[in-house]
Amino acid sequence: MSDPYSNMKLVDENGVRLDGRRLDELRPIRIEAGVLNRADGSCYLEWGNNKVLVGVYGPREVHPKHMQNPLRGIVQARYNMASFSVSERKRPGPDRRAVEISKITSEALEAVVLVDQFPRTTVDVYIEVLEASAGTRCAGLTAASVALADAGIPMKDMVVAIASGKIGDHLALDIGRAEDNFGQADVPFGVIPRTGEIVLLQMDGHLTKEEFETVIEMNMRAAMQVYELQKAALVRRYSAFAGLAPGEESEPAAPAAAPVATGPMAAAPVAELGHPEGFKEPLAPPPVDAKVEAVLVEGEAAPEVEGEEVEEPNGDDEASSGGGY
Ligand code: CDP
Repeated sequence: MSDPYSNMKLVDENGVRLDGRRLDELRPIRIEAGVLNRADGSCYLEWGNNKVLVGVYGPREVHPKHMQNPLRGIVQARYNMASFSVSERKRPGPDRRAVEISKITSEALEAVVLVDQFPRTTVDVYIEVLEASAGTRCAGLTAASVALADAGIPMKDMVVAIASGKIGDHLALDIGRAEDNFGQADVPFGVIPRTGEIVLLQMDGHLTKEEFETVIEMNMRAAMQVYELQKAALVRRYSAFAGLAPGEESEPAAPAAAPVATGPMAAAPVAELGHPEGFKEPLAPPPVDAKVEAVLVEGEAAPEVEGEEVEEPNGDDEASSGGGY
């Protein structure tokens, strides 16, 4: 496919991209769990110039009732871009793109949440994109997974999402803003790291079969790095909690220094990426009944969800707004 933007040089002779990254390099990533006091679980994520905030409520009773499934719960994600998230003011409210992204995000998350453990309920996931710079659906899905774990929702694992593609006739990891606009292909991808199951796969543009396979491989490898950052954010959040007496409360801490994943993915060991200096600063403690450890322990049976969790209201007045647009 000929590049209609041939004047825009997305990759130079040395294989360096417009933002200075190499072709196999992630943008800097920072993940904080438990940043909101009112939501059951939350996450703030920066990915390059993307800024995403996620709040989770549930499991709680589904309203309207005809949406209840007597056999399992549902996950309702709502993706929303703030009006100020892009350079051209975005008209407030849902558009077709937001409805699409909400749908694919809900489906991807339903693949990891143990929905059969809490029939007739919903887990509501509110994804607010504060600043957008390409890859926001992946940033939102990645952050939503952390927020769900932060809420103690029973899950078999988290989802990690990333979009790679083709720019200036080169395959490139983690497509940036100009690359998204002027590149040749973009492949948003979400995976469950523990099983390798792909729960999100889209493609914009054209790739050969071989290129597509390489892009999937790049996404898969990078996803493992991002997974370490997700887990480290939760460990940091819950290790702060571990030192508290039952019922003891503390004020939320100020956002900690940014944990950042940079550098070529081949060169950076996963463990190092997962434990940069910034992760040592503890955040506010989680609710006393949180069970996030169960989410992360290999082979552990899913934690039981007590009836009272379903009944526990997060405000009945809010119930009908869950997941609605
Ligand atoms: O964000 P993502 O790559 O998942 O989705 P996209 O539809 O491919 O959008 C790519 C980028 O276009 C977004 O991240 C925004 O930076 C930008 N965009 C925009 O400027 N205005 C919109 N109404 C929608 C997207």
